[in-house]
Amino acid sequence: MKTAFPTQKLEALQTPFYYYDMELLKETLTTLTSQAKQYGYHLHYAVKANANPRILSAIKEYGLGADCVSGGEIQASLDAGFPASRIVFAGVGKADWEIKLGLDNDIFCFNAESIPELQVIDELASQKGKVASVALRLNPDVSASTHQNINTGSSDKKFGIDSNQLEDVLKILPGLSHVKMIGIHFHIGSQILELNDFRSLCNKVENIQQKLAEYQIFPEHLNFGGGLGIDYENPDAHPIADFDSYFKIFSDHVKIRPGQQVHFEPGRAVVGQCGALISKVLYVKENPKKKFVILDAGFTDLIRPAFYQAKHKIENLTSSLPEEVYDVVGPICESSDCFAEKILLNQTRRGDLIVFRSAGAYGEIMTMQYNCRELPKAYYSDLLS
Ligand code: LLP
Repeated sequence: MKTAFPTQKLEALQTPFYYYDMELLKETLTTLTSQAKQYGYHLHYAVKANANPRILSAIKEYGLGADCVSGGEIQASLDAGFPASRIVFAGVGKADWEIKLGLDNDIFCFNAESIPELQVIDELASQKGKVASVALRLNPDVSASTHQNINTGSSDKKFGIDSNQLEDVLKILPGLSHVKMIGIHFHIGSQILELNDFRSLCNKVENIQQKLAEYQIFPEHLNFGGGLGIDYENPDAHPIADFDSYFKIFSDHVKIRPGQQVHFEPGRAVVGQCGALISKVLYVKENPKKKFVILDAGFTDLIRPAFYQAKHKIENLTSSLPEEVYDVVGPICESSDCFAEKILLNQTRRGDLIVFRSAGAYGEIMTMQYNCRELPKAYYSDLLS
């Protein structure tokens, strides 16, 4: 399903803003949940990708749980109506108040990332007379083929417990009477389109399961995190991520023990394609070398190009004139406020509406107020009058 932008209606709105195609979000959720169901997999939406309350509430309607990395995300998920019994909580640096929030709400599972964290969870749970359910987040040392800033699964990264230290953890666990280990958790990175990376993860997980079996430990829950990528180059050809091939990799390559439950934490693949950033052209400026399209949106509104050299498809919604070559930049006083160099756009003029496609994930949630700019608003396809 291709997103159709209602240009006339959008032209009346104050730019820049986020626009969500709610039909596409629902279609994505229908596909995702029906395919996960075929394999019996459990889903926890990675709230960090987009915590807009309307988006959260649409996702909750499809029965997903929530994957959180902060107390704020736990609260946002609870406010949106996600049941605490389906909330998982990861993160290398959980503050005491965040752990207490999780304990007070009896969340499903803490994905614990270090021995000192396990000890603090144990202590705080004991103070409350509770037993915290915990999955060990293990670093499988799988280097995913993605941008280095969003590669989390290699052993030099801060994430998870090094797989070689698993035995140390297993030795201390029996002494932590307020922690119950219910599973193991992994997340190797984000925007991964090379499905063989997930296959490498499956192989590592099998080795880990064998090691655990030597200790007579059979974790009830296997959580493979998120990471499935989307097509930024051609969103109209692939509006919905290839969930089926993704799940099939795990189904083919992980040996599931009797009674084991499998979990995933997709973020980007759920919300990425349904969102767009819409901006207006302030000026078209020419110098002897280049033509610049200067927008009213800057990296404060969409940081991915500056932060990860991400390439969002950029289109002119107003013009159908012949194409020309432009650099597309924002108004922020930084050279990194450049969205794209030497790209083709229909001949562009002041006032034209420009769209950044595939901005639903890590777009609105990563906006900021640098230069004392206002945060962009959000509009939804089903609420535009
Ligand atoms: N689970 C954990 C533990 C994670 O750290 C993440 C993402 C996910 C799940 C969801 O991954 P996804 O399915 O969205 O790939 N801001 C960056 C992406 C950062 C991802 C951080 N962790 C970007 O704009 O590309």
